[in-house]
Amino acid sequence: MSVSLIVLAAGMGTRMNSDLPKVLHHVGAAPLLHHAMAAGMALDPTRIVIVTGTGAEAVAKSAKAFEGSAETVLQDPQLGTAHAVAQAAPLLADSLDDVIVLYGDTPFITIDTLHRMMEARRRHAVVVLGFDAKEPGRYGRLIAEGDDLHRIVEFKEASDAEKAMTLCNSGVVCASARDLFSLVASVGNSNAANEYYLTDIVAIARARGLSAGVVRCDEAETLGINTRAQLADAEAAFQQRMRAEAMDNGVTLTAPETVFFALDTFIGRDTVIGPNVIFGPRVTIESGAEIKGFCHLEGCHVSRGASVGPFARLRPGAELAEDVHVGNFVEIKNTILDEGVKVGHLTYLGDAHVGEFTNIGAGTVTCNYDGVMKHRTVIGKNAFIGSDTMLVAPVTIGDGALTGSGSVITKNVEPDAVAIGRAVQVNKPGMAKALFDRLRAAKAAKKGQ
Ligand code: UD1
Ligand code: CA
Repeated sequence: MSVSLIVLAAGMGTRMNSDLPKVLHHVGAAPLLHHAMAAGMALDPTRIVIVTGTGAEAVAKSAKAFEGSAETVLQDPQLGTAHAVAQAAPLLADSLDDVIVLYGDTPFITIDTLHRMMEARRRHAVVVLGFDAKEPGRYGRLIAEGDDLHRIVEFKEASDAEKAMTLCNSGVVCASARDLFSLVASVGNSNAANEYYLTDIVAIARARGLSAGVVRCDEAETLGINTRAQLADAEAAFQQRMRAEAMDNGVTLTAPETVFFALDTFIGRDTVIGPNVIFGPRVTIESGAEIKGFCHLEGCHVSRGASVGPFARLRPGAELAEDVHVGNFVEIKNTILDEGVKVGHLTYLGDAHVGEFTNIGAGTVTCNYDGVMKHRTVIGKNAFIGSDTMLVAPVTIGDGALTGSGSVITKNVEPDAVAIGRAVQVNKPGMAKALFDRLRAAKAAKKGQ
């Protein structure tokens, strides 16, 4: 059965106390919305529709950045979860697909759980994802007998006996597009909140003689974010899962609790990650690399056998080929380092290309920005850049060339040439001693006064 997705993301998120729409708050360096979309995208859906409302423009932009084919519909005003689903009807009502409704603020639903819901659809017209809550709080309660779901009662409407039940509604629902939109159209708003509750579709389905069922999942999957405290809890849970997954995949983490991953971090087998390493978005690391302690990586690729850090920063567009070495206090941005390049210490390389087996001395800086525009530095293979070389871009250093320490290189250097761009050294015999003698005498005279 093919499937389409609706992701509800219109809500205010009042309790976040934020100018940013709730679903754009980050966990694992990615908006909550991307987490919810990622789980759904793994089902290879025909269409994915995001219901926007609060901060609609920003939410739509973020959704499209994650998945270009995502469509958005505006829900204005926001009259409840059933009303939100109904906004997708113009796009999906004629679809022959099943539709899964996800919440943009519930990031941890697993693919396995979504598969189990699709499987349960063979037995039930409407499938709802439930969980046994340790603290059921204000969740909607599922009134079920075994896997048969009779109805869902919202906390605000629940009797004391119903409030004592612990089987809760995650909000995730699956039904055929035809049934879903027909059911949603029948939902009214005569309840405590005057909202159109999506949860009412279960009782309406039963009254029509359709069956409804419940699929259960672990409570951790249904963690919804309503407050900054829950956002922090979600971050902790996410990091714990990513660390465990990385180690299961054959990555060594020397101090796992100090390593922070992004949603899309990819690390190959037998790579070793030292303590206090932080991965921003879009980092891929091949097998057998080493990231030593205290490194920050973002938007970069590290190839097999490369070693990075400690205390290195790889920024977007940093591409390290095999066996590259980047050492301490080095920053690399928008730069390709070919195989075997060594950048050991205290260096900034931006907007550059360095050819294979070239050595970059300590304190080298590509002066890539003139205050208005960025310029490129191209360094050939087997070159040797002396310590403290300033490479004033745009500039090209040929294969096998050498720059003298302390040089300010403003002109291109041809292959195999030596370039020296520094003041000529002058030695004055005896002058230091004469100078110190004079200074010491002056100090002694001052004391005697
Ligand atoms: C909802 C469920 C409740 C369930 C809980 C799980 C209903 C009526 N209740 O309650 O049974 O236990 O989720 O977390 O469905 N949204 C819109 N438009 C709206 C209203 C909400 O897009 O008009 C979106 C929100 O952005 C959010 C999601 O729907 O992503 C859930 O809305 P929320 O108001 O948080 O529902 P709850 O009251 O928590
Ligand atoms: Ca909620």
